[in-house]
Amino acid sequence: MADSSATVAVRLEDIQKTYRTGEVDVKAVRGVSIEIAQGEFVALMGSSGSGKSTLMNILGCLDRPTFGRYFLDGEDVSSLSRDALADVRNRKLGFVFQNFNLLSRTSALENVELPLLYSEVALTSIELRKKAEEVLAAVGLEGRGDHTPSQLSGGQQQRVAIARALINDPEVILADEPTGNLDSRTSVEVMEIFQRLNDKGITIVMVTHEADIAAYARRNIVMKDGLVQSDRAVAERLNALAELETMTTVDALAHPATNVSQ
Ligand SMILES: Nc1ncnc2c1ncn2[C@@H]1O[C@H](COP(=O)(O)OP(=O)(O)O)[C@@H](O)[C@H]1O
Ligand SMILES: [Mg+2]
Repeated sequence: MADSSATVAVRLEDIQKTYRTGEVDVKAVRGVSIEIAQGEFVALMGSSGSGKSTLMNILGCLDRPTFGRYFLDGEDVSSLSRDALADVRNRKLGFVFQNFNLLSRTSALENVELPLLYSEVALTSIELRKKAEEVLAAVGLEGRGDHTPSQLSGGQQQRVAIARALINDPEVILADEPTGNLDSRTSVEVMEIFQRLNDKGITIVMVTHEADIAAYARRNIVMKDGLVQSDRAVAERLNALAELETMTTVDALAHPATNVSQ
């Protein structure tokens, strides 16, 4: 493709999802058409029940739409079989969850390697370990690979989860409330990683209900009743690194030792 800055990562055409549970039909998503270019950082917002998770499940190839078409990296994935969807997921997507979803007794390195252990990507165990060490370093966890999640703070666990999402060089990272279980400083640290990855060209779609977290994205899409209510570029985008610097003084006063060990 000639102009990579204009490459479309995600295109949704009139996506609809109706859940049929017993006698009631729930129209969770009622016709969403959006395009997300490669390198965008989108925050998906909206009140509870507005259809965010349903849309994320479709974006993540975890569920299929009832109607409409979904193109991921140019490939129509809307009517693929479950197996084919799983394959697309493994090749093109990385996931970050609110609860980190790490294996608690397994080292950070092994947690990060997991998505590729079951994939068709042919890496030797040495190559896989090298790759895992690289992505752990990319999220600031160099040398912590042998720690288990229980030996890591919440913020560090989310970093491991982000590293895991990066292991397959995904087209898009999908994050569902990635800061939902983190305190405010740690949340900004996670946003700093997302902004850094995004600056390197990785496309990110993140669900959040916090306006101050959405302000780190480049674009905010608000859903209401299964439809896009608003879709706009973030006017005064926050810079996580700059925010962290303003927070450091307060933090250093409260926890003098923190800055030394981190
Ligand atoms: N698996 C399901 N079966 C039936 N209804 C569902 C299911 N998942 C979500 N819904 C309904 O679809 C609507 C949208 O839900 P959801 O996508 O979870 O919204 P949000 O993530 O914005 O809170 C809600 O009315 C919800 O109750
Ligand atoms: Mg939800």
